[in-house]
Amino acid sequence: MTFRAILPKELLSIVLVRNFKTKMNTTIQETPEHLAAFENKISCGEKIEPKDWMPERYRKQLIRMISQHAHSEIVGMLPEGNWITRAPSLRRKKVLLAKVQDEAGHGLYLYCAAETLGVDRRELVEALLAGKAKYSSIFNYPTLSWADIGVIGWFVDGAAIVNQTMLARSSYGPYSRAMLRICSEENFHKKQGYEIVATLANGTAEQRAMVQDAVNRWWWQSLMMFGPSDANSPNSEELLRWKVKQETNDELRQRFVNITVPQAKAVNLTLPDSDLKFNSETGDYDFGKINWEEFYNVINGNGPCNAERMKARRLADENGKWVREAAEEYARKNFSKTKNI
Ligand code: 3HC
Repeated sequence: MTFRAILPKELLSIVLVRNFKTKMNTTIQETPEHLAAFENKISCGEKIEPKDWMPERYRKQLIRMISQHAHSEIVGMLPEGNWITRAPSLRRKKVLLAKVQDEAGHGLYLYCAAETLGVDRRELVEALLAGKAKYSSIFNYPTLSWADIGVIGWFVDGAAIVNQTMLARSSYGPYSRAMLRICSEENFHKKQGYEIVATLANGTAEQRAMVQDAVNRWWWQSLMMFGPSDANSPNSEELLRWKVKQETNDELRQRFVNITVPQAKAVNLTLPDSDLKFNSETGDYDFGKINWEEFYNVINGNGPCNAERMKARRLADENGKWVREAAEEYARKNFSKTKNI
């Protein structure tokens, strides 16, 4: 997002929010009674709000998850941003530009949601830049052709919708509300992607080959977005108990497969999995084995584009320093003016 794209009023609130430490009830000692009341509230379907008492572990889990999500939105702008100037028509450029800008907005809502838990955004960004914080594995792969942009919209935003409609029911109020808006925008992203895919799939032999190649390169990596299998997901048990997550990684992955297989058939594309077949007993599509070695390699920083993505984010941080300083000065001046009234 450019400096000029941010209105002064929004700028002021961003800076003020950064300096605002939520006064939470974390100092109250954690007793079994507190925990029981907290868990009871969650089991009744009530939302936990920033000033409500919460176990320190719940707060930590949310900061981890929401900040990783925010970083993913911001890093996720890079592979697609790479195609804005090369999109094949003015219409495609405008749509892609709007989509990439939406992702910046998603990052912004999510950093704000994380800040309601009493953490400073700068701290979170610094953890990312220092290579200490994770972001989604999917954004560590290169976008080699225009068809990749279509397939990312279809698969990556499609997978995000499956995961995030579940998170819209999350027990933490600010996160679930951020998800509502994000999901409606992701729906548009998925449609634009699928429309590109359908156009190429109905195009020349060369265009068909290009889109099939993109499908082949992004399919397995999109399945990895849902995280490790349930048996190897250390955080799931706690997140499910506290209804931050309402479904497991494997359940969501399966739903994505079930939704996507008919969509691939509708445009006469094949998914690169010889084990993929409908199971009439379960009503699901069975699928082959995920390459978990590749997944762990990527999340540990050794994917094809990890170094490139981090270099781009560090450069953006350096180049944006004057913007942050100007915003802080603007906020400081406005704040002292308000105090003098
Ligand atoms: N990429 C990178 N790291 C991943 C990952 C992935 N695809 N899947 C799991 N991990 C990490 C976890 O963060 C965790 O690391 P940590 O303990 O060091 O923080 C570790 O692997 C073990 O995984 P778990 O299953 O135990 O972790 P979770 O229970 O938190 O589940 C998750 C992982 C499903 C990604 C969950 O955190 C989640 O739903 N997060 C919110 C949604 C999100 O971040 N989505 C990212 C994509 S955003 C996007 O796609 C943008 C859109 O514009 C397209």
